Amino acid sequence: MIGMPETEDVLDGLFFMTTHIYDSSYKPDLNAVYQFYLKDTDNAEYAFYLTIKDQAANYGKGVHENPDLKVYAGVNLWIDMASKKKNPIVSYLKKEYKMVGNPRLMGYLGSSLRRDYSNKSLKELGPEIDNHEKLTLWSNIKNIFHTAITDYIYRNQIYSGYTRVKKWEKPKDVIVLNGSPRKERAFTNFYLSRFIEGMEKAGANVELVNLADKKQFNKTEACRGCYACWKGKYKEVCVIKDDYTELLDRVENAKLTVYATPLYVDTVSAVMKDFMDRHFIYLTPYMNKHRKLTRHPMQDEHEKYITLFSVCGFSEVEQFKPLVNMFHAHARNSHKPLLASILRPASEGAYLNPFCWPYMPGIMASLEEAGRCLVEYGSVPSSILKKISSTPIPKHNWHSGPNLYWKLKNKGTTKPWVFLSNHNNYKSKKHGVTARLDEV
Ligand SMILES: Cc1cc2nc3c(=O)[nH]c(=O)nc-3n(C[C@H](O)[C@H](O)[C@H](O)COP(=O)(O)O)c2cc1C
Repeated sequence: MIGMPETEDVLDGLFFMTTHIYDSSYKPDLNAVYQFYLKDTDNAEYAFYLTIKDQAANYGKGVHENPDLKVYAGVNLWIDMASKKKNPIVSYLKKEYKMVGNPRLMGYLGSSLRRDYSNKSLKELGPEIDNHEKLTLWSNIKNIFHTAITDYIYRNQIYSGYTRVKKWEKPKDVIVLNGSPRKERAFTNFYLSRFIEGMEKAGANVELVNLADKKQFNKTEACRGCYACWKGKYKEVCVIKDDYTELLDRVENAKLTVYATPLYVDTVSAVMKDFMDRHFIYLTPYMNKHRKLTRHPMQDEHEKYITLFSVCGFSEVEQFKPLVNMFHAHARNSHKPLLASILRPASEGAYLNPFCWPYMPGIMASLEEAGRCLVEYGSVPSSILKKISSTPIPKHNWHSGPNLYWKLKNKGTTKPWVFLSNHNNYKSKKHGVTARLDEV
């Protein structure tokens, strides 16, 4: 199980990144020591220093003996200025932070932090990435139009559910299926945990089932497509008797099931798909029409509901469109209205990218609120869904952080991206949990 990273680790990652985006060509003769005192919202203060010497940037934790400039700022403000979300000059004039020493040094530093690892500098990214197609001016223009049009369509479509709830009654029990092969030690579960907390606060008993848990589901099979469930001695039951058999029945009869899956090749993970295929046994072989499309009647037509929960690697919520479409179809075919689609893009990026740190508490609080609303009202307001899917940092930062990491890895740098390596050996004092993703 992974928890929220510690502020100190986030700042460590931020200063590590800073040393890599430093470009000495702006002011080759710059030699200075910058001392930062950064205060978190809980008033805890973190001291870091940055040294620029012989055209190289280095950093350290703690207090330097002989700084040329001291900076006193809030952690979140500093991160926002570093990601270029906020303008440091405007913030300085508004007295949002304080400097002691020669303020020009800050100007030199700001102008020197300009190495860009997003798609503008693909050439720098090493042999693997060098071969990527470079966008021509024309395809860039086409892209702008395409994005504007798809944005317009998705804004209106992506969150809409097949939400024909007859009369919502708060469910006592909720089953949450986690289809992440990395089970509880990865990002589906990281975001899901907070959503579950919200459902529990609204009074639901939540059962979390990790479909990929080999201890519980040692022997499982995919649907054989034999249609035995429609005929002969196996009518209405499955020929396969395995570790999913009992769970399938419970899920079919649960008032509310949450399907949580990482986005894998644009839809569900393989383990989730295997489990979903096995639901075929609850359909009857007959056919009828529903909203212009054919579907099978169910064996049991009691009112039950589903909810989709997903995370994905890329930073755009539009990446979920095929998955959301799949669940709209699943809702129609399984006769279970889709109450909401809870979608978190940049699952890893938001966690690992220090620039996103100030926004994580808001995203996590919205997940909890979504869980509460779902149980309480059978729906989640779109304002909350949008907050959960928000990617509030300047777009190129979603590329430059991971590109920098892979560049260092591909070059065989022995020192990995500090923040990521801390995360892999993550220890949270606040939450008392540890995780090593590389062991999963
Ligand atoms: C096989 C595979 C396919 C993936 N396909 C996509 C994809 O189509 N789009 C995307 O944005 N991310 C994709 N990802 C990234 C995952 O969605 C992301 O890393 C997520 O956090 C994985 O969930 P987990 O952390 O619970 O393991 C893929 C990852 C894997 C391993």
